[in-house]
Amino acid sequence: MLLEQLSINHCRIIDSAELMLSPGVNLISGDNGSGKSSILEAVAILSRGRSFRSPRIVDVIQHKQDHLLIRAKTTDDDNAFSIGIQKSRTSTRIRVNQQDINTQAALSRYLPVTIIDPNSIELVTGSPSLRRAYIDWIAFYLFPEFHKVWQNYQRVLKQRNLCLRVPSYLSALPVWTDELIKAQIRIQDYRERSLLVLKPQLERLCERLLGDHSISIKLTTGFAQAMDLSAESQKAFYLEKRDNEIKSARTLSGAHRADLQIMFNQSLAQQSASRGQLKLIAISMLLAQSRSIDTNNQGKGIIAIDDLAAELDGENKHKLLATLRSLNQQLLLTTTQSDLIPLEADDRMFHVKQGKVFLKNSSV
Ligand SMILES: Nc1ncnc2c1ncn2[C@@H]1O[C@H](COP(=O)(O)OP(=O)(O)O)[C@@H](O)[C@H]1O
Ligand SMILES: [Mg+2]
Repeated sequence: MLLEQLSINHCRIIDSAELMLSPGVNLISGDNGSGKSSILEAVAILSRGRSFRSPRIVDVIQHKQDHLLIRAKTTDDDNAFSIGIQKSRTSTRIRVNQQDINTQAALSRYLPVTIIDPNSIELVTGSPSLRRAYIDWIAFYLFPEFHKVWQNYQRVLKQRNLCLRVPSYLSALPVWTDELIKAQIRIQDYRERSLLVLKPQLERLCERLLGDHSISIKLTTGFAQAMDLSAESQKAFYLEKRDNEIKSARTLSGAHRADLQIMFNQSLAQQSASRGQLKLIAISMLLAQSRSIDTNNQGKGIIAIDDLAAELDGENKHKLLATLRSLNQQLLLTTTQSDLIPLEADDRMFHVKQGKVFLKNSSV
């Protein structure tokens, strides 16, 4: 998928902007506070329905406006799409090719964007939910049916938790336990299949960015490590933990407690890698995520990096830029340094000033 044209209205400092993007490198330069990150936020909102900087849309909508509107033209193989999202405090309107559609997930399919920003390190150091979302993102794009399976799991989990919380629903617990077991066997299977695709990509990227250090990644299941995950064994497990779960009023084990264990030189990365190494591990993981969905090597995923230079010192910055170039994917890079990366024929450079976006160079 390529992002050909991006229109932004009322997104933070940007009142109105239109960018015709290159399929290669798009360098977005400007001083601090000029609106560079706001451009990437607009892309994030189109791709996932929310910004990576603020969970609240009111923060992102331009002051004194009641909604924001982000539109794009994308292409995939020979097909062109026009997609758009309009968000106010209370409502969302999504359109694909002039038709209203109901779900963000349907929109997300048209724009698989991986965003790397100064908080990305949390993918390694932060809560397991971020790593579950990370692997599930791959499953979402690789396996069209995964999203339904995932939604079903959330629904079943909610019902089962209700049984554990409300005494009058307790009699339905066995039914929902059976449903949960079925659903999480499927979730686990999709996650494992995604991990199989991810692993070689991650190894390659870590080798480039982290040299001799060894990185490995392992999926934990949300159960004790040695437990066999057959339906019978899960059933016995939940029966044994029944009283505990009733006391806690929620499902204590399962796919919603799974995690990715990231090992750096045979120890947990969170505990053994330096801050600079953690950044490179997180960046490798995110680039590998984007590579993983590009099964035909057609540059399917789009990579957006906010403030790349602030992230890394000189040598690592050059290694990363060289690696990015070699990926053959569309790149959106923001920076305060307009000479961050030598531009090639198809690349574009935009300059942002007080929320206005200017095209600085283009060979076309
Ligand atoms: N909701 C908003 N409406 C208008 N301006 C905003 C809003 N939120 C933030 N800003 C302004 O946007 C600017 C930040 O833009 P940002 O994209 O973070 O800049 P950059 O990434 O170039 O440093 C700041 O000047 C800030 O005051
Ligand atoms: Mg910024």
